[in-house]
Amino acid sequence: MNMINNHSLKPYNTFGINVDAKYFIEVASVAEIKEVIEYINIHKIPFLILGGGSNILFTSDFDGLVIKINLKGIDLVQEDDDHYFLKVQAGENWDDLVKYCVENNYAGLENLSLIPGCVGACPIQNIGAYGVEMKDHFQELEAFDLTDGSIRTMSKTDCRFGYRSSIFKNELKGKVIILSVTFRLDKLPVLRTGYGAITDELNKMEVKERSIQSIRNAVINIRRSKLPDPTEIGNAGSFFKNPTVSPVFRNKLLKSHPGMVSYSQSNGDYKLAAGWLIEQCGWKGKRIGDAGVHGKQALVLVNYGKATGKEILDLADEIKKSVFETFGVLLEREVNVG
Ligand code: EPU
Repeated sequence: MNMINNHSLKPYNTFGINVDAKYFIEVASVAEIKEVIEYINIHKIPFLILGGGSNILFTSDFDGLVIKINLKGIDLVQEDDDHYFLKVQAGENWDDLVKYCVENNYAGLENLSLIPGCVGACPIQNIGAYGVEMKDHFQELEAFDLTDGSIRTMSKTDCRFGYRSSIFKNELKGKVIILSVTFRLDKLPVLRTGYGAITDELNKMEVKERSIQSIRNAVINIRRSKLPDPTEIGNAGSFFKNPTVSPVFRNKLLKSHPGMVSYSQSNGDYKLAAGWLIEQCGWKGKRIGDAGVHGKQALVLVNYGKATGKEILDLADEIKKSVFETFGVLLEREVNVG
């Protein structure tokens, strides 16, 4: 086993936080995963599974073994009249997959272009953007069960996907390693342009014939204009979830804040735009040391260089406090804290 001691995690988290792992290993096969898990069980070492590191905020050194999953491969495993079924290994980069699908005319994931991270992490928080969630094209996944070393196949129902959540953030947290995900992609594209910003961008681009490629281009343009590129400014996308409130509470808030942005949900509740709430509290573009709130999207916290995880977390707590004091709404973190 190729274990490294005292290894910096800075290149492995998109926030760019400089902490060390006591031990670090990259695994590229199921056999290697089995070997490492046996080792940590025998030696009782705490461990952390890392994919693309795009949804984690490290607040201290990790006194254990960080396991970086590097399983690679994209295989067309099945086809029917309407769909392609693509089995993708956990270590594949998410956006490389979306690009590959668009180039091959496998439709469905294009609205999820440019989301940082790897395939194995996408079911954990059921990534979503511009009117599409990963679960809409999820078929099944394979996971390594850390309790008994078996490999289990899990269906969509088993995974209990919700808004930025799944069984892997709850009951199965820390109990499995996702090995691969199989996606169900459409042969006949259904273009999802319902999200206002996409239509506006497509019009701006003067696209004559809309396609999954033009949607991908539009999404890339929108994301580049609003969201900081983690290779330039450390960040993990939205730091908080958009909170859900009852219609009664939403109407009460609307009376005192007529400009408030909210979206109705299928169960009658409303989702509030957390970015709007944070902006109203005056945080947009604010910077404390090297920790800051992005100037173009208040839902995104950034590391301008040398911020520690603790400084980012303190800033997040201040934001949470002022949103609660102003609106009576409790923001919930989307990002994991390690
Ligand atoms: N808004 C503001 N000020 C801001 C930011 C947003 O007023 O600083 C308001 C605007 O009115 C805007 C509305 O909020 O119309 C929604 O903003 P946006 O379209 O940027 O989406 P979001 O709700 O802030 C969510 C996801 C993003 C995803 C976009 C697009 C969550 C937590 N975030 O953001 O996902 O890209 O929708 O679908 O649901 C991520 O999870 O990391 C992420 C970036």
